[in-house]
Amino acid sequence: MRSELLYTTREGYEQDLIDELKLAHRGEGARLIAPSLVASPKEYVDCAFARQAMVAKTIVKADNALALDRAVTSALYELMREQPTKKWALHVWVPDSEEGNKFARVADVLAKTVPSQAGSIDAKWADRIVDSARIARDAGGLLAQVCVLGPTRAVVSAQSAVDAHSLHPGGRARMRVDNEAPSRAAMKLEEALDWFGAAPSRGDHCVDLGAAPGGWTHVLLARGAHVLAVDPGAMAPAIARHKNFEHIRGSAFEIEPEKPVDWLFCDMVWRPLEVAAMLAKWARRGWASMLVANIKLPMKQKADFVKRVLDTLRDGGWHRVRARQLYHDREEVTVCAHRK
Ligand SMILES: C[S@@+](CC[C@H](N)C(=O)[O-])C[C@H]1O[C@@H](n2cnc3c(N)ncnc32)[C@H](O)[C@@H]1O
Repeated sequence: MRSELLYTTREGYEQDLIDELKLAHRGEGARLIAPSLVASPKEYVDCAFARQAMVAKTIVKADNALALDRAVTSALYELMREQPTKKWALHVWVPDSEEGNKFARVADVLAKTVPSQAGSIDAKWADRIVDSARIARDAGGLLAQVCVLGPTRAVVSAQSAVDAHSLHPGGRARMRVDNEAPSRAAMKLEEALDWFGAAPSRGDHCVDLGAAPGGWTHVLLARGAHVLAVDPGAMAPAIARHKNFEHIRGSAFEIEPEKPVDWLFCDMVWRPLEVAAMLAKWARRGWASMLVANIKLPMKQKADFVKRVLDTLRDGGWHRVRARQLYHDREEVTVCAHRK
């Protein structure tokens, strides 16, 4: 496994990730190594079904559980000593599976003890630890990852934080939304915007397709955007009363905006290729500048469908098209894109 890419995925989606890697690398190579963990000998791919990725540089095997933190810290020091002035963030995580989550406590302990061990190895190195991968990224620093495989085993890596697949430990981006959000779908949109790295600003015009009962619209209105919701279903009363809100009770396939909008959002429960064709039309006609869409994937061969959806969006004129099964996504992936 050494120096292979190690990807973690939602439990149950390992084969989808392997299929995606096969499509990307035109062949074999990727394999399951544990629930939620897939290894690949080929170069990194921004896979939709990967929550986090790391180059498995060093596999640490300690003699006993008490020795794991020192062994992990020494391994990280070796990996980072050629970049002595860089700030770094530490993520210690377990694969998100029934088996992996049994070692969550080991990961919690390591997350606390590795920084103190770092001080005993090299005080200056320990002083450069920052609180989050985002801070490390913005400072041009490193992300150190420790994937715990058991009480005495872990895989460690260090890479430029700007190249990280996810800025959340193990890709688990837990979002909170306020109690007034009419649905838990609001968390999916918060996570999508965090991943996209862009979000509507005050006064932006948004169309929200498949908006009822209004979790996504709630997030957008809270940011000061204007929202046109399209859904045959009813919106939550507090949303329906909002001054920046309008609702068309009809099908998304039948509407045309009066003028181009800044953002197109879509969370419709509908066939993915038909949704993709409709979203492609929005780009082709110049109706929206940015896209965030949640694509439902109830079928077995998910990787192939994701590829077809992305190809359809690109053919329509969407650029920088990406897909990710986010932490809050279930049988679905989130897609984001820019029109320019
Ligand atoms: C998962 S729910 C959306 C949840 C919503 N985003 C939220 O945050 O509360 C899916 C929605 O898609 C809507 N839908 C299904 N087909 C549609 C269509 N052709 N046009 C518009 N909305 C549609 C359904 O009525 C349903 O409200």
